[in-house]
Amino acid sequence: MAGSAAVRVSHPPPADQPAEVELPRLPTEDTRPMSRISALRGPRPSSLPTTVVPRFGVQTDQEAQLAKELEDTNKWGLDVFKVAELSGNRPLTAVMFSVFQERDLLKTFQIPADTLLTFLLTLEAHYHADVAYHNSVHAADVAQSVHVLLGTPALEAVFTDLEVLAAIFACAIHDVDHPGVSNQFLINTNSELALMYNDMSVLENHHLAVGFKLLQAENCDIFRNLSAKQRLSLRRMVIDMVLATDMSKHMSLLAELKTMVEMKKVTSLGVLLLDNYSDRIQVLQSLVHCADLSNPTKPLPLYRQWTDRIMAEFFQQGDRERELGLDISPMCDKHTASVEKSQVGFIDYIAHPLWETWADLVHPDAQELLDTLEDNREWYQSRIPCSPTHTVGQERCGPDRFQFELTLEEAEEEEEEGLAQH
Ligand code: CMP
Ligand code: MG
Ligand code: ZN
Repeated sequence: MAGSAAVRVSHPPPADQPAEVELPRLPTEDTRPMSRISALRGPRPSSLPTTVVPRFGVQTDQEAQLAKELEDTNKWGLDVFKVAELSGNRPLTAVMFSVFQERDLLKTFQIPADTLLTFLLTLEAHYHADVAYHNSVHAADVAQSVHVLLGTPALEAVFTDLEVLAAIFACAIHDVDHPGVSNQFLINTNSELALMYNDMSVLENHHLAVGFKLLQAENCDIFRNLSAKQRLSLRRMVIDMVLATDMSKHMSLLAELKTMVEMKKVTSLGVLLLDNYSDRIQVLQSLVHCADLSNPTKPLPLYRQWTDRIMAEFFQQGDRERELGLDISPMCDKHTASVEKSQVGFIDYIAHPLWETWADLVHPDAQELLDTLEDNREWYQSRIPCSPTHTVGQERCGPDRFQFELTLEEAEEEEEEGLAQH
């Protein structure tokens, strides 16, 4: 990582740093902060001989059931929780292995199966299994969702193999080493990560740095047979995609996507015409962002599990904020937050506007998914408890003004019209 050596830290971190930000020990032999991204901590699978690569990349005595679940690899609604169960909690490895095979990426980019597997297991080990939502099940979900979205008819043959590889890889690494708290929390608590990235897209910068650093571990460089030019191009795209997962970029991304829909160009074959980097990366960023916000578009039993997980993570952050005497972030106060209202708000102000725009772009491919989203919204809406005094005024039973602090703050600065109407 160029330039990192110039920033030297000469003192160990203060003892009152919050525990949730893992403050790595200063290595005695090397005090470069970026060297601590080395992410080579924790269990690291040693190189695997090619002969022992299991069918789905994971050791399991339930291979037949796992095979059955993974038959849904190309479907919206794959049960990624089942895949987690059946793969010894290695859903990211199993799903990525399945997607790479499905798309023939190992052959196209000459990726040795044992290298892919070593990388995936190492990557998966760097997601925190004890974080309720931002763990490797979420990464597997986002990667598989993007795989399905890339297969939508309106995008047929639009993207190159390298762009497809970049998008799927970006999803796999997009939340790696997530500590289970938001950017704002990291900033408010003067965390080491916020210091490292000057409060800007703190987590997203970290996910990228860790993701790329892991490629340097032994037998992990899945891109070693790409040309220098391909590697550079892939890296640039992955950086652009993962940085765009920062929710503070949501409003500007959505505004740009709306403009693209208005100016939509299609080829004689009826697929999208994207003839410059800016348009291509914009669609790829939107794809990854949509997949990241796809919980409410999934079959209800899956969506409900995601909701349980994200609320558990939010409430845990809220507990820490309470303990530290900080303001409790929106949706994070277990004593006042309504799970149902939070989801209706999340759909109305964030997920639906985005998915509706995506559906316009690829019309009519995403109609079914949009219908599911709307049905799911009604399901949560109908479960918002109405207190007796509130039954007359219908809105009072509806969502509170949805607050997504990170989204709203920067959006208001970036676009004049912003979210004022929300
Ligand atoms: P992350 O996965 O890092 O990026 C997208 C963010 O959107 C996610 O973190 C959450 O902060 C938020 N998000 C995604 N799904 C939901 C949901 N179902 N309810 C509330 N917030 C969500
Ligand atoms: Mg993220
Ligand atoms: Zn995510």
